[in-house]
Amino acid sequence: MTAPKKLFIKTYGCQMNVYDSERMAEALGGQGYTEAKSADEADMILLNTCHIREKAAEKVYSELGRFKKLKAQKPDLKIGVAGCVAQAEGEEIMRRQPLVDLVVGPQSYHRLPEMEEKAQTGEKVLDTDFPEEDKFEQLKRRPKAKRGPAAFLTVQEGCDKFCAFCVVPYTRGAEVSRPADRILTEARDLVERGVREITLLGQNVNAYHGAGPNGDLTLAQLIWELDKVDGLERIRFTTSHPNDMMDDLIEAHGTCKKLMPYLHLPVQAGSDKILKRMNRSHTAESYLRLIERIRAARPDILISGDFIVGFPEETDEDFQATLDLVEEVKYGTAYSFKYSTRPGTPAAERPQVDPVEADDRLQRLQALLTRQQREIQDSMVGREVGVLFEKPGRLEGQMLGKSDYLHAVHVADCDRQIGDLARVRIVSSRTNSLAGELIE
Ligand code: 5AD
Ligand code: SF4
Repeated sequence: MTAPKKLFIKTYGCQMNVYDSERMAEALGGQGYTEAKSADEADMILLNTCHIREKAAEKVYSELGRFKKLKAQKPDLKIGVAGCVAQAEGEEIMRRQPLVDLVVGPQSYHRLPEMEEKAQTGEKVLDTDFPEEDKFEQLKRRPKAKRGPAAFLTVQEGCDKFCAFCVVPYTRGAEVSRPADRILTEARDLVERGVREITLLGQNVNAYHGAGPNGDLTLAQLIWELDKVDGLERIRFTTSHPNDMMDDLIEAHGTCKKLMPYLHLPVQAGSDKILKRMNRSHTAESYLRLIERIRAARPDILISGDFIVGFPEETDEDFQATLDLVEEVKYGTAYSFKYSTRPGTPAAERPQVDPVEADDRLQRLQALLTRQQREIQDSMVGREVGVLFEKPGRLEGQMLGKSDYLHAVHVADCDRQIGDLARVRIVSSRTNSLAGELIE
């Protein structure tokens, strides 16, 4: 028997990519691959790339360049590029970087085993098609490997929104929802393997409309089906578009006990002029009214957001409207970015904001968001929250977990195990975490 081959996957970007990397590892597990701790000991290296950030493709090329020496030492080493950069410029990658053996787009991961076999014969393989079949169904899983208590589950991919700055509709394609029965089967399987919290993933997850036994299910209906799964204790979902925040989903936040009080609802900007140019099809006012309705259903919900500053033609006044909106919403956590051009998207062609000005705006916005985040975190002190323990802490006897609101919480002298869900009283708030004690 030959020695098992080792696979090293480097993952960039979003949770969707983290999930995809796990599925790729499982698919290649069927080909005899086990996990390598570093690129140095690998027989195959996969870069699971992300195209959202600035100069993403350039970073991939420079990362690939670093493998040159490794490949010279180990000529059988196979190098692959996966993810959104692979989707966007597959052929270009093959042309520019001859050491790449394999390029695979996000819709083709189920074909990795065949691709790997071809690559072993010395052939260069590229697959960036958008197939019809459900790629997840095709991905062979290893027999019941134990999992950590919190897992991601992709329910929807792609996006039809075409925000003027975003590459997702081009790299991940049109919006597709997975059928509900497949998601439920996968959820039950995860629970059998030790999972107690599932985060449903989708680029535009609240537009979910997967096939069910009696027609399509909405995301809220899917959540209610998952609510019936014994042993599953917590449900989350991300990322949502304000326009797809349907009444039944808002209501579920008030009535479904397993649905956690946390919602990532990007607004991007606070000026209606900019929102219009971003092709967001909502206004600042409609977003604020939506937040009000969500908070009426679930008053303690923690709201998270994404922001872009320095979008083409953003004036200081427009930016001020973003600050005003943030003041009104009060975000528990947020991600903010300076606009950067993505070739092929409509905004790339428009007059750009002075980068120094954009930097200054980003700093001002981040100062405000950090302050809000800290205030909300501090306001948890004295409160009782649920905590799902995920790993031991750095100190002896300490356990680390996530609260219902997704704050990191550590508990000293904790007799609970990984995967236990406990009631905890928060006693103090530090920079990026809370400390709590078990309520007996
Ligand atoms: N420039 C800056 N930020 C962007 N995002 C997406 N595209 C761009 C871009 N071209 C941000 C958005 C999105 C998040 C995932 O990344 O805020 O919600
Ligand atoms: Fe991109 Fe999100 Fe807009 Fe879709 S909704 S185009 S994924 S920013």
